[in-house]
Amino acid sequence: MSGYFEANWLDLREPADLVARSFPLQEHLANIVGAERHGECVIHDLGAGTGANLRALAPFLGGKQRWFLLDHDARLLEFASDRLVRWCVETGGEARESSDGLLLTTESWAGEVSMVHQDLSGALFEGLPRADLITGSALLDLVSPEWLEQLVGECRAAVLYFPLNYNGHMRFHLALEADRRIAELFNRHQSGDKGFGPAMGGQAPRRSSEILTSCGFDCQLDESPWELGVDQGGLQQELLKGIAAAALELSDQPEQVDAWLAHRLAALERGESWLRIGHEDLLAVPEGQLS
Ligand SMILES: C[S@@+](CC[C@H](N)C(=O)[O-])C[C@H]1O[C@@H](n2cnc3c(N)ncnc32)[C@H](O)[C@@H]1O
Repeated sequence: MSGYFEANWLDLREPADLVARSFPLQEHLANIVGAERHGECVIHDLGAGTGANLRALAPFLGGKQRWFLLDHDARLLEFASDRLVRWCVETGGEARESSDGLLLTTESWAGEVSMVHQDLSGALFEGLPRADLITGSALLDLVSPEWLEQLVGECRAAVLYFPLNYNGHMRFHLALEADRRIAELFNRHQSGDKGFGPAMGGQAPRRSSEILTSCGFDCQLDESPWELGVDQGGLQQELLKGIAAAALELSDQPEQVDAWLAHRLAALERGESWLRIGHEDLLAVPEGQLS
């Protein structure tokens, strides 16, 4: 997997992500930066894709919000704009264009949303130090420890919230002998360079928590796994193909990977595929802000 993602893939994963997110951590976040504690909350969403993180968080935080959606893929940001308008209207709100993006007004929250086309692997967005909340869903496994240290160096006062980071664990029902080897290859692939230097991959939750703790943040991790049954056949299918494609790039036994994928897809077709992909959400609050 590179640093570019198909909108279809992000669409497929959004409902599973929404269910998987840690509710206690999200509630804790809302207690810190939500409407009850804050005036307008300035939020930067890194690697925002089509805006799924906003759709999950904004109603939860409530009140007045100012969002900046940052991504290096202009195409995804266009989708984000369209989807946010549709989502807002479908959920009973009003959406209109503003000079800086979109103005969304709903019963539970209101705010302006700007799309920022930017490659985050280099210099970070100059507005970051003024953010109350810096977030990014499914992001930390793509980045290097050095990138995270640089981010924190620029914004020590913001609350950081990174949901849905892959933690290296995958489990299949029914187990096959090749599962372990495929998972090893996939995890090795995940720690390759995705544009931010050697990625933390499946180590992301633990490593990120260590880094942020050493930088003076109070960190909390909570599990947010995907538990995928046959009712999520589309997501399972794309996921299995993605795992196999990554494993193939590093395998010296391509026929083993092909056979594994064929077996897994056949099981899915028969309605006999269940799998669990481990994720963890991370909330990091600058020391002293919790009281
Ligand atoms: C796994 S997707 C997650 C998208 C979205 N947060 C979600 O939860 O649906 C990672 C996102 O990071 C973005 N991304 C990857 N590398 C990037 C970079 N160097 N600069 C900015 N965005 C990047 C991708 O375009 C993609 O939208």
